[in-house]
Amino acid sequence: MAIKHFLQFSDFTLDEFEYVIERARIIKCKFKNYEPYHPLEDRTLVMVFEKNSTRTRLSFEAGMHQLGGAAIYLNTRDSQLGRGEPVEDAAQVMSRMCDIIMIRTFGQEIIDRFAANSRVPVINGLTNEHHPCQVLADVFTYIEQRGSIAGKTVAWIGDANNMLYSWLQAAEVFGFHVNVSTPKGYEIDPALVSPGNARYTLLANPSDACVGAHLVTTDVWTSMGYEEENAARLTAFDGWIVDGAKMQRAQPDALFMHCLPAHRGEEVAAEVIDGPQSVVWDEAENRLHVQKALLEYLVLGKAA
Ligand code: CP
Ligand code: NVA
Repeated sequence: MAIKHFLQFSDFTLDEFEYVIERARIIKCKFKNYEPYHPLEDRTLVMVFEKNSTRTRLSFEAGMHQLGGAAIYLNTRDSQLGRGEPVEDAAQVMSRMCDIIMIRTFGQEIIDRFAANSRVPVINGLTNEHHPCQVLADVFTYIEQRGSIAGKTVAWIGDANNMLYSWLQAAEVFGFHVNVSTPKGYEIDPALVSPGNARYTLLANPSDACVGAHLVTTDVWTSMGYEEENAARLTAFDGWIVDGAKMQRAQPDALFMHCLPAHRGEEVAAEVIDGPQSVVWDEAENRLHVQKALLEYLVLGKAA
């Protein structure tokens, strides 16, 4: 039987997401009630980080422990991956010693090659092109706060990066719309969007993109791996800050999300991220709960 991976948001069907989201709700309840839940006892997660992380490492590592299993952290600096061991060989070896693997790396082709050579499920913990675990947490957070996301409008203000591509895939699965506003020169790469995706609209003006939105979201202007472009990006993204004036154009009860880490005064104003419409701390916490549900589903299948 083919192994199930989570390499992009589009790897799961709506039915699978509905299952994982319901499990996340139940698993979160257990956590809040200090109820032990150890379905992954004696199971091991290997986490490979080729880029920095706070939330992803913490949520996967804590989550695996809370599910009764163990998590092992590897990075490029002190593993053989940093010395040129082929990805295919690393996948063969690692997947003989653990039950599931999470990878944060650069190009999507690296994780695709890894998964093709793995005996166990592989989860994308962020690549240059996708960040599906974060968007899963964001969709869960929206549903938790406001109910169904189907038919709603999400405003994406900023860079056409990994988060946006995962949002566009989520829009297709869940049936919502994304208003996208990116500065000139930083537009969507059509090769990274499925040809038939009719769930988004491009708007030149970021304020226009916020009109009527139920959720306004953004991310850093310079993602990991693009640091040398930082100065040029600071100039190009001038005006793409999510501030109070832009939030005013959204629905009165619109939420604000940011995957974090954030730069106040660049992509978001302090009045917004620290204001009443912001749910960024719930959003960060929900990484833990949705990823526990994801680990349970990928290792055990439909358990309940
Ligand atoms: N949002 C997110 O993935 O955060 P980290 O880079 O800290 O893991
Ligand atoms: N787009 C950002 C997300 C960080 C969690 C990056 O790739 O650096």
